Amino acid sequence: MGQIIDGKAVSAKVKEEIRLETEKLKEQGVEIGLAVVIVGDDHASQVYVRNKEKACETVGFNSFKYALHAETTEEELLDLVKKLNEDDRVDGILVQLPLPKHLDDKVIINNIRPDKDVDAFHPVNVGKIMIGDYSFLPCTPAGVMELIKSTGTDIAGKECVVVGRSNIVGKPQAMLLLHNNGTVTICHSKTKNLKEVCSRADILVAAVGRPKMITADYIKEGAVVIDVGMDRDENGKLCGDVDFEDCKDKASFITPVPGGVGPMTIAMLMRNTLTAGKAHHGIE
Ligand code: GUN
Repeated sequence: MGQIIDGKAVSAKVKEEIRLETEKLKEQGVEIGLAVVIVGDDHASQVYVRNKEKACETVGFNSFKYALHAETTEEELLDLVKKLNEDDRVDGILVQLPLPKHLDDKVIINNIRPDKDVDAFHPVNVGKIMIGDYSFLPCTPAGVMELIKSTGTDIAGKECVVVGRSNIVGKPQAMLLLHNNGTVTICHSKTKNLKEVCSRADILVAAVGRPKMITADYIKEGAVVIDVGMDRDENGKLCGDVDFEDCKDKASFITPVPGGVGPMTIAMLMRNTLTAGKAHHGIE
């Protein structure tokens, strides 16, 4: 039986460190603020935004929520982003994705000040990740790295396979593993012999969005298996990209869904916001 990686526990530890640091900053008169913008009434997005607000409360940040109606125009949203860019109380800005279809994510993200872009989605931050000079680490891949580190696994020289090539997870995930000296392969829907490639992995990160796609025959005995998926199974129950029951005895460490990567993403968002806040106040 592999060990289950407890994302909630690792996340709670990170948030507690942030809370203590935030408390100290407050004593020096420094407050940290995160603005969260949500457009429309997508249910999943509302849940994510609520969790981000709760996390702010836990660590002692000020949170500013802007809930805009689904018909908000690009001009209105850009006006808000501009206002938040200039607002000294706001250290981090997060525009929840996906946006309604008539709004272009790229245009909005490109207008967030890079030093307030706590998602690390702005091209300036994406470019910095590429060259290993990062102010902010993208939240989900950074959370995955913390979980791998929590297992005591040394990434250097290991075969790392990332399944999925999204801009938000797959691509930056591969970069972070590479910067930690992993030997990295990125797989996607056109990859030939996917099973064979995955079964070479000492560290397998699944981020494809296909329920329970990774079964035991995709993984190597003793692999570290990290599941970024947030899918629904045939009964509508939340599950990951990895068939947990099938893989748990073959993996050395494995993340559950829920309770694995999910809680880490928010903890990393808090960390980025603290980093942004300290930079804005000229604190090391
Ligand atoms: N929607 C799903 N995940 C994310 C995320 O990490 N950041 C933002 N802004 N939107 C999301």
